Amino acid sequence: MNENVIALDGPAGSGKSTVARRIAEKIGYNYLDTGAFYRAVTLYLHRLFQGSSNAGTFEDWVKTSEAKNSITDAHILCEFSSGNENRIFLNGEDVSLAIRTPEITREIKHIANQRIYRDFVNKELHSLAKLHKLIMDGRDIGTEVFPDARFKFFLTASSKIRAERRTLQLKEQGIEADQDEIEREIFLRDKSDTEREIAPLYQAKDAILIDTDILSKNSVISKILEILDR
Ligand code: DC
Repeated sequence: MNENVIALDGPAGSGKSTVARRIAEKIGYNYLDTGAFYRAVTLYLHRLFQGSSNAGTFEDWVKTSEAKNSITDAHILCEFSSGNENRIFLNGEDVSLAIRTPEITREIKHIANQRIYRDFVNKELHSLAKLHKLIMDGRDIGTEVFPDARFKFFLTASSKIRAERRTLQLKEQGIEADQDEIEREIFLRDKSDTEREIAPLYQAKDAILIDTDILSKNSVISKILEILDR
């Protein structure tokens, strides 16, 4: 068993990151946002693609040996902080905000379904888990990356509830958002996450399912803490 890893998987918008951050704080682990690694790899390749004279699409280009070979020059670093806000550095540049644009979010699926990029991210995650106690949120942590994790949780919520929460969150930040449009985006993300051939999103057999439709964030946190404490 890998004593250093607690896996928290689930679809986009199920509240994993807030929950994982708060749990990490309570139990003295570091929070690790594994999606940020996929985002940073996407940003890295997308910049290379835009700077190249390639006439094709990004989706096709990431499958070429030129793109695949270039990944060895991407150095991604995750900095842990006391509030468990991960800062992500790409070749020395803080890209914590740049990896969150809608454009990058749309393009990730072309990276997430390629074995070479997944292996690259997984290698980084394994190196970090040798040095730190981590609660990781992601899609395939309990199934593929750390099937031997100390605890595995799987968070779900209906797409309607996830869209409602996301719209509210954006409104609180002063950003106008259309809930139907957000629900459509969530639907598309779920589809690419669950239907990809490599490391799709699904609940590990030994993961504990937590349906957040019917639970408040605080109740989810208490429930997980209670299980960790047993
Ligand atoms: O957690 P997030 O929404 O920031 O993740 C962005 C994308 O990264 C997600 O839609 C799929 C991919 N991802 C993945 O394939 N495996 C992970 N463990 C984490 C994220």
